[in-house]
Amino acid sequence: MIHLRNVHKSYTVKGKVIPALNGIDLSIVRGEIFGVIGHSGAGKSTLIRLINLLERPTQGEITVDGEEILKYDTVALRNFRRNIGMIFQHFNLLSSKTVAENVAFPIRIAGERNEAKIDARVDEMLDLVGLTRHKHKYPKQLSGGEKQRVGIARALANQPKILLCDEATSALDPQTTRSILQLLREINEKLSLTIVLITHEMDVIRTICDRVAVIDGGKIVENGPVTQVFLHPQHPTTRNFVLEAEHAGEDDPMSTLSQEGDAMVRRLTFMNDAMAQPVFTQIARECEVDFLILSGRFGKIKSTPCGQLTVSVRGDNDKALAALRRLSDAGVVVEETF
Ligand SMILES: Nc1ncnc2c1ncn2[C@@H]1O[C@H](COP(=O)(O)OP(=O)(O)OP(=O)(O)O)[C@@H](O)[C@H]1O
Ligand SMILES: [Mg+2]
Repeated sequence: MIHLRNVHKSYTVKGKVIPALNGIDLSIVRGEIFGVIGHSGAGKSTLIRLINLLERPTQGEITVDGEEILKYDTVALRNFRRNIGMIFQHFNLLSSKTVAENVAFPIRIAGERNEAKIDARVDEMLDLVGLTRHKHKYPKQLSGGEKQRVGIARALANQPKILLCDEATSALDPQTTRSILQLLREINEKLSLTIVLITHEMDVIRTICDRVAVIDGGKIVENGPVTQVFLHPQHPTTRNFVLEAEHAGEDDPMSTLSQEGDAMVRRLTFMNDAMAQPVFTQIARECEVDFLILSGRFGKIKSTPCGQLTVSVRGDNDKALAALRRLSDAGVVVEETF
């Protein structure tokens, strides 16, 4: 659906060149929820704003739905933008207009004059986001979560193919964040909408994304399915995001434990078959080894159940190695800890 090839972007402020993106290559598949994670200043907003050409790249190619959008003239660009909705961290609603008028706004901008059609579309959108009873309120009479629902209804009013989300849940509390993410997931499935979202929170990525790119200093440093990137992070920036999400820093007692003595410490990753079978205790019993569990975490990444244990293997060296081989044969990913 979206391809970026060798995209560079720099800003010039008072004659000084500020690089923001340095050679981005990225492909986003139709119908997926694609996440981009990075720290403040990494270039996330710049990247997402290139997709609807709110910013133009300094260099590179961008194709959306098979078309090279950089070649568009003003009219083509206006039509193209109707296919892309966007939501923001601070909602950006019109404070002097009601909920219904905020949602109607982009429909009017797109040239629709038939009031009955506009009303019907607004009602449909408010129903979709669960705000029908707030229709005649003003933004200041709504909670943060409700404001973001208006933002989503407005973004979808013109039936876009793509929804861009710039830190859409960063101003919300954890529970409201979950409900907005759930809504985005429903919309993705119901409308087969392609969603690109940027965030600095790994939890957001883990809850709804199919694939993720990690951006650091204007470059993509890691890119792949969320299960892969989350369970086997390669780049230091990704590892830090994963550690932050596990609320474990360098001074975490668990990381001290795992460096203890010359113990055989391994990280075991369970997914698919390895989650469905009691391989862990079975193999321990049969190979006559013991595992001291140093840390562990089981849950879901989007809809995939998975888990990770860091263990110290105790027992005869040959038996320990045999146990690790058997775990590996049973589909458990066995790695030395980093
Ligand atoms: N309009 C602009 N003019 C000049 N420099 C800019 C502009 N917008 C962004 N930058 C610079 O480009 C770099 C990337 O900024 P960007 O807003 O894309 O980061 P971000 O990852 O979205 O950060 P945050 O998480 O804080 O929103 C930063 O160094 C920033 O200062
Ligand atoms: Mg930003």
